[in-house]
Amino acid sequence: MCGIVGYVGGKPALDVVMEGLRRLEYRGYDSAGVAVVHVGADGYRLDGRKKAGKLANLEKELSERPLPAATVGLGHTRWATHGGPTDGNAHPHFDSAGRVAVVHNGIIENYAVLRAELTAAGVELRSETDTEVVAHLLAAQFEPSGRDLAEAMRRVCGRLRGAFTLVAVHADAPDVVVGARLNSPLVVGVGDGEAFLCSDVAGFIGHTREAIELGQAQVVEVRRDGVTVTDFAGVQQEARHFHVDWDVKAAEKSGYEHFMLKEIDEQPQAVADTLLGRVSASGKLVLDEMRMSEDELRSVDKIVVIAAGTAFHAGLIAKYAVEHWTRIPVEVELASEFRYRDPILTRDTLVIAISQSGETADTLMALRHAREQHARVLAICNTNGATIPRESDAVVYTHGGPEIAVASTKAFLTQLIACYLVGLYLAQVRGEKYEDEIKALLAQLASAPEKIAETLGRMEPVRELGRALKDEGRVLFLGRHVGFPVALEGALKLKELAYVHAEGFAAGELKHGPIALIEQDLPVVVVVPPPSRPLLHDKIVSNIQEIRARGAKTIVIAQDGDSAVEAYADTLIWVPELPTLLQPLVATVPLQVFACALADAKGLDVDQPRNLAKSVTVE
Ligand code: G6P
Repeated sequence: MCGIVGYVGGKPALDVVMEGLRRLEYRGYDSAGVAVVHVGADGYRLDGRKKAGKLANLEKELSERPLPAATVGLGHTRWATHGGPTDGNAHPHFDSAGRVAVVHNGIIENYAVLRAELTAAGVELRSETDTEVVAHLLAAQFEPSGRDLAEAMRRVCGRLRGAFTLVAVHADAPDVVVGARLNSPLVVGVGDGEAFLCSDVAGFIGHTREAIELGQAQVVEVRRDGVTVTDFAGVQQEARHFHVDWDVKAAEKSGYEHFMLKEIDEQPQAVADTLLGRVSASGKLVLDEMRMSEDELRSVDKIVVIAAGTAFHAGLIAKYAVEHWTRIPVEVELASEFRYRDPILTRDTLVIAISQSGETADTLMALRHAREQHARVLAICNTNGATIPRESDAVVYTHGGPEIAVASTKAFLTQLIACYLVGLYLAQVRGEKYEDEIKALLAQLASAPEKIAETLGRMEPVRELGRALKDEGRVLFLGRHVGFPVALEGALKLKELAYVHAEGFAAGELKHGPIALIEQDLPVVVVVPPPSRPLLHDKIVSNIQEIRARGAKTIVIAQDGDSAVEAYADTLIWVPELPTLLQPLVATVPLQVFACALADAKGLDVDQPRNLAKSVTVE
């Protein structure tokens, strides 16, 4: 949420910053802005441009009113919190003298008090944002800090409440860019004679793959020749270096019209990569980072999965598999609700936090609440070194590579794989399954990439269906067992991409209310479990008949060769055979493709749907 780029080096700063913003635009696109420190007639000066709307508006503004050449600068792409998405509220924000520029991600909770204080001191605030106060406070602290921008930043941070990432430049400190973070992401990129401060590595991946992870409540100063990290009190901190293991191509469209289409197609590889290297030489499953003993895992008596959005749907599916394989009760809870209901947690509770970005504020706060109650936390995450895995007792990384489209696709399938692996790992440690049973399940998982690829090869009729239904205002999704969360995910994709009122229901609940929604020609997508589970399968076939009898247009997703559903489907979408618990790995794919095709046919921005953002770092 909100993309930030800061740069100091030898290259044209504006080009570097704009390229970084393009790569980070998925984090927010309500407005964008840049500022550079450049040499003017009377010494160093600071200049900026900012525009409401997508980055394209800022690009146009820059072509009409270019900025002078510079090698130090910063930029921001915004998801609005305080103050509407106007030019004036766009970042950067400047102090009254125009010497300091600040960009910010997060919310400064005590901004009203600070604003009142500044106003009382005669400062005229020009925007409605919480951010602008920081620019004025930094300007006021610069001289008392010995003209040291990092020290000024530390002093200002000491006064701020809330969650924030801040990056600032000062015309009187022309060779440094300073950043600070508290419960909001910031990563340092270290190049040859240059350095970057970005919300995530995508912002600098075109220039360097060497990075430094920052901890909470730290201030960082980057210069052409080095990086200094301190805590808010000024005590120097050790910098944790890491190498980014994907390259710039992974963050580019590579010929695809949308990132989402590329990411849907990458799913077989992403799933294969997530499965890779999970079995030790002795044939045992291993997790990435495990700071819990086997005894501790054996004493787990309850699992609580916390997640948001698509990751929550992965958690709902995990419940079926993990309970079945381990016999441990599993609760699945929206992270944003979790800590507000006083959940019952003990030392024997294992909390599983699922998050693609590893920075989602709702999930992070839920995780912290769980740890305060002495529960153990295992993270499933796609972002190396993100806050959620850093604060967890154990981690399973999904190796999906960067996911740029706001609507999550490959992250979902890889999260499912990670959940299955965790379930099998617990079953192994607790002796709930024989070794050969685990091996058989792993072999079925190993076949998933091929089955997903096969599914993707059959998607033309689904795209056609999406185009044909582009004027539909409502679509329902039904499923049973693991097909129910798949239905929820299908509905979510359609809502977020195509702005269609879509709802997912448990098929058995239909007769308890939702069936009243069925009317002539209403499209209803039904996810049918494999016929190998007749109890489930036959019930849903009856449900299809019930809605068809009331005029619904049925779109049925069924396993190859499931002849029992043929008679009741207006449109039939076949998926390859997988056991019931693993079927979401293939059944979700047509729903992603359908939503994408429908949104595209409506002429909507598939990668950047309205009002949304990725990596939601505010609660
Ligand atoms: C946002 C995104 C969703 C994502 C959710 C959770 O709402 O738009 O696509 O599923 O956040 O994100 P996380 O990074 O925690 O998986």
